[in-house]
Amino acid sequence: MSNSSTDPVSVEIIDGVARLTMNHPPVNALSLRLRKALADALSAVAADPGITAVLLAGQPKAFSAGADISEFGAGAGSPPDLPTLVAMVEDFPVPVIAALTGVALGGGLELAMAAAARIAAPDARLGLPEISLGLLPGAGGTGRLPRLVGPERAVEMILGGQQISADQGLRDGLLDAVLADPTSEEGLLWATGFAQGDGDPSQPSVGVASHGEGTIEPLHRRPPTRQREDKIAAARANPGSIATLAAARLAKAKDPFAARAAIDAITAGVELSFEEGARVEREKFEERRASAESGAQRHLFAAERAARKPKNLDPRAAKHVARAGVVGAGTMGGGIAMALAAAGIPVTIVEAEQQALDRGLARVRENLTRSVEHGSRSESDAQNQLALIGTSLDYAAFADADLVIEAAFEDLQVKRDIFATLDRHVRPDAVLASNTSYLDIDQIAAGTAHPGRVLGLHFFSPANVMPLVEVVRGAKTDAQTLATGFALARLIGKTPVVVGVCHGFVGNRMLEVRSQQAERLLLEGALPGQVDKVLTDFGFRMGPFAMGDMAGLDIGWRNRKAQGVKAPVSDALCEAGRFGQKTGAGYYAYDGRGRRDDAAVAELIAGISASLGVPRRDISAEEILERLTFPMINEGARILAEGIADRSGDIDVIWVKGYNWPAYRGGPMWYADQVGLPRVAARLRHYAEQTEDESLRPAGLLARGADDDGASTAGGLIFGAAGQGSGQEALGGPAAANGPAA
Ligand code: 3HC
Repeated sequence: MSNSSTDPVSVEIIDGVARLTMNHPPVNALSLRLRKALADALSAVAADPGITAVLLAGQPKAFSAGADISEFGAGAGSPPDLPTLVAMVEDFPVPVIAALTGVALGGGLELAMAAAARIAAPDARLGLPEISLGLLPGAGGTGRLPRLVGPERAVEMILGGQQISADQGLRDGLLDAVLADPTSEEGLLWATGFAQGDGDPSQPSVGVASHGEGTIEPLHRRPPTRQREDKIAAARANPGSIATLAAARLAKAKDPFAARAAIDAITAGVELSFEEGARVEREKFEERRASAESGAQRHLFAAERAARKPKNLDPRAAKHVARAGVVGAGTMGGGIAMALAAAGIPVTIVEAEQQALDRGLARVRENLTRSVEHGSRSESDAQNQLALIGTSLDYAAFADADLVIEAAFEDLQVKRDIFATLDRHVRPDAVLASNTSYLDIDQIAAGTAHPGRVLGLHFFSPANVMPLVEVVRGAKTDAQTLATGFALARLIGKTPVVVGVCHGFVGNRMLEVRSQQAERLLLEGALPGQVDKVLTDFGFRMGPFAMGDMAGLDIGWRNRKAQGVKAPVSDALCEAGRFGQKTGAGYYAYDGRGRRDDAAVAELIAGISASLGVPRRDISAEEILERLTFPMINEGARILAEGIADRSGDIDVIWVKGYNWPAYRGGPMWYADQVGLPRVAARLRHYAEQTEDESLRPAGLLARGADDDGASTAGGLIFGAAGQGSGQEALGGPAAANGPAA
């Protein structure tokens, strides 16, 4: 067996143990190339009578991240498929010991679960994350995991999709030992001991395992994973128990189709037999793999990774942020400070008044206490985080900050004044960011002596929880500033997406269009409950009116008044003192039992329709959905044409991460491609005529995409296969976006 440094699997024989090392960068995804190499290596080793055990290893960063996601679009995997490899490992003539380093995820963990034993490095991470791709484990994971860790933990891991630590894996029974370096000398010795069954019986995690009442057996004599039934016996004797265990998770599932499929497979594997479970698992896996819902989530996986590499951003230009500052101790300022402190960055909050500081800090404390009570953070973590948050009434406290984020009142003059003050107090090389959600970053920057160091970092509320940050590139933002803001957002665990300057950037600009249509639908005949239901049926957690009530209607009302803009229904509700949940009434009525439709609101809306002379009619769910989503797509096309977003996939990431667009619908631009651009454009034309609203006419980019799409048999996805292409590129650059079709 000869090895070269480019072989995806290398084989070394050391004292009778064959060490098979997978080396298929970047993450040992089990692509056809790696599967073939692994099958060949296993076959060669099986034919060598001198070999007593196999140590199956990967790279320090990844044992394996599972099946190759990029192969899923092409149909079922070419042979050898993953289940075949898994079976080879489980039925291997000598024990195979999986040595886990870095991540062992999805098919990678399934391969390891078929091994005779699993040893792992202390920092290894284990999981079956298929659910977040709209899938279920497809190589025996739904059958083997419950047999190793019991049905309860298996349901948690498969439906939750989270990674667990090596320590947790050991406690759960997924691992047999945690070793400093399982792939080297230590692991080889462990494998030898395991094969010989001569481990020290006083240390059951090394070479031996205890089965039941005090019996100690050499580990290699235990049955293969698929035949182990001790941990599933109780569930098998109690049919329906898996469904009961999974009910709460199913109710919260982001992709209910994949969750239900996973539950069916686990149930069959536990309540019937491993073989029956494997049959159901394979069938459901193939069904999900071919589904639109999984396609959408795989698109998002790629789009998120593409968004990490913004155009014209050199990550090497980023400056390390050792200390940060926040202006404003309101809900946003406090949330941003918490997010920074949670990542270990000391942060000082500056406010104009002590009372505001006290209130802000009290809110931070309250949040931290609540997260300790919910178990999402330990008491000591909470204390450490709090210790990193300082406060001051003086901008001089920012003297040593590398970056300051302004999170003050949403008013251009207020922000310009703050930036002018900051300019005088911070170091000349400090980055200045505004958390504005609508305002013009260039106008804010213009009030400073160094506009190059200004950018927008638009967090979403609550900032300590929501993953999205729109990183706003101003006209003068320099390379270091942009790279530093972007890197900081990643460092604190957020999903940053670079956007350009316009009113509301990408997310709120599209939201505004949706809100206008939602209000308009009320005037034409719909009621809030009907509109909201269409969006919750589509997959949103909440519709626009329930969301408005939760956020408080008065904020938008005040903004509209300042801008001289009207929203007749929302304005009338506010004039009647109905500000939403906080006043017990808004679009809905609220009482102890929650939200309910309110006849008074129906009456109020009907009165406004009449006074404006808008005839009321029955509006179908289909029209409501199209009226809410298609204008957003249209606005997305304008955003692409203007170069405000780099790629259509960026827009999708923004809407999924910041506005809870259902991941299984892939984001608005992906959805547009699924509906078909010709249909989206035709319906927009229809609604423009019906409502006499010219803004609903298809934007140039959308109209031309629709023409191409209708003409080409290839589908002409102008928004970009996998969301990587920008509309501009598809049509030959920004100039072409407004001119005739290229
Ligand atoms: N298949 C193909 N490519 C993958 C991959 C996979 N399973 N996992 C990661 N990659 C690629 C990424 O696309 C990225 O490519 P790029 O450099 O061209 O952008 C590269 O590997 C590095 O990935 P990340 O940028 O995400 O690196 P991180 O260090 O941040 O994260 C990771 C690494 C934790 C492995 C993360 O990539 C991840 O979670 N991967 C997905 C894991 C997963 O979902 N596995 C299940 C697959 S489905 C399956 O196994 C089905 C089976 O049951 C039959």
